Amino acid sequence: MGKIAKKPLPVNLNLNVRGLSQSATLAINEKCRQLISAGRTVYKFGLGQSPFPVPEPVVEALRQHAHEKDYLPVRGLLPLREAIAGFNKRTQLIDTSLDDVLIGPGSKELIFILQLVYYGDILIPTPSWVSYFPQARIVGRHVQWIATSAEDGYRLSPEKLDLICRSDPNRPRVIILNYPSNPTGCTYSAERLRKLAQVARKYQIVVVSDEIYGMIHHQGQHVSIARFYPEGTIISSGLSKWCGAGGWRLGTFSFPPGLKWLRDAMATVASETYTSTSAPIQYAAITAFKGGEFIEKYLYDSRRILRFMAKIIRQKLQAAHIETPAVNGAFYLYPDFSYYMEKLLARNIVTSAELCNTLLEETGVAMLPGIDFGHQPDELVARLAYVDFDGKLALEKIAGYDDKKLKEDFIRQCCPSVWKGVKALTNWLEQL
Ligand SMILES: Cc1ncc(COP(=O)(O)O)c(C=O)c1O
Repeated sequence: MGKIAKKPLPVNLNLNVRGLSQSATLAINEKCRQLISAGRTVYKFGLGQSPFPVPEPVVEALRQHAHEKDYLPVRGLLPLREAIAGFNKRTQLIDTSLDDVLIGPGSKELIFILQLVYYGDILIPTPSWVSYFPQARIVGRHVQWIATSAEDGYRLSPEKLDLICRSDPNRPRVIILNYPSNPTGCTYSAERLRKLAQVARKYQIVVVSDEIYGMIHHQGQHVSIARFYPEGTIISSGLSKWCGAGGWRLGTFSFPPGLKWLRDAMATVASETYTSTSAPIQYAAITAFKGGEFIEKYLYDSRRILRFMAKIIRQKLQAAHIETPAVNGAFYLYPDFSYYMEKLLARNIVTSAELCNTLLEETGVAMLPGIDFGHQPDELVARLAYVDFDGKLALEKIAGYDDKKLKEDFIRQCCPSVWKGVKALTNWLEQL
């Protein structure tokens, strides 16, 4: 037999995936790693990862259950689902039964599966978390972006939502509402949620309420839209942000009983894909969701640190003419650099992506450009995640301060990279 020449196999990719690049947050982290290994100083304000350690009782629970090796039920471990129902009652006064809870390997996976199984449009306010849109694209869903304004803290207005729906009131729709928000740190008042709930009810919209940052509302006053629209709201949460356990990969969906069909369809897909979430992690998560004194104190101090940092950084940015909406939670600020538009243009920097690339190259400050969150390319906004500090040290130190005694020195000492990075950013802009 003659020799057959080895030819490279043809690239046959699903058209929905072709042209998609790696998630923006992971890509920025990779770039930072490369710069650091080349000996550069980098201020890592790109990746939205909690700076705080997993609370010790939760780590201890994981140690105790390291031997758990069996596959668990696809919808999740019963005592964990019970703990999540208790958590919903304790934190939001919402009644959830065990049957209403679905556990998954991260809420990202659950949001993806929901978009896969639901037939209808996906409504996403701008700006929004980087992954909702690519997920919709992968599963071939039609996305309807809804614009918001900086003056309104980038919040969705009930009137806008009504406007989108009124011309085709019976169209099936899911809206993904995330608050406190990634990327802005802003949240909704109870009054605004009540009005949004009225519109959602009018058009029978399914609301995926992404409350992954709910427990790090800076005043501990997170309110869920499920209080006003219980029949149509799925609460999405997990361990990643408030419990510092992003890498543990555990997310939760709490459904209203009327959306059982959606829960069951998601569980079917889960059973054919990830099977069940890691057993030891599920056992450990029971301790996290049950709460208790240690976790309350951990959350209280985490919020104090984040609240104080947001306040001081925002002041520094404002002093350098960088407007940033007042924040209510999470660990993000969403600065607007338009004041420097002319000077940036003189350096041929027109888009938020060019701005972030140049900043990273010239100052070592890593941020994510507004385009990744659904903004137009030339809107000069970016997300600053103020997480580049040792959360364990900050938690130890803050125990010695009451709020009145907290001064900038706390940040300079406990969060030096954040301090220097913000300075590097404002200096660079002022010297343009
Ligand atoms: C708004 C928002 N939703 C969902 C997620 C996904 O979180 P996880 O999959 O870790 O539960 C993230 C993570 O960055 C997020 O910022």
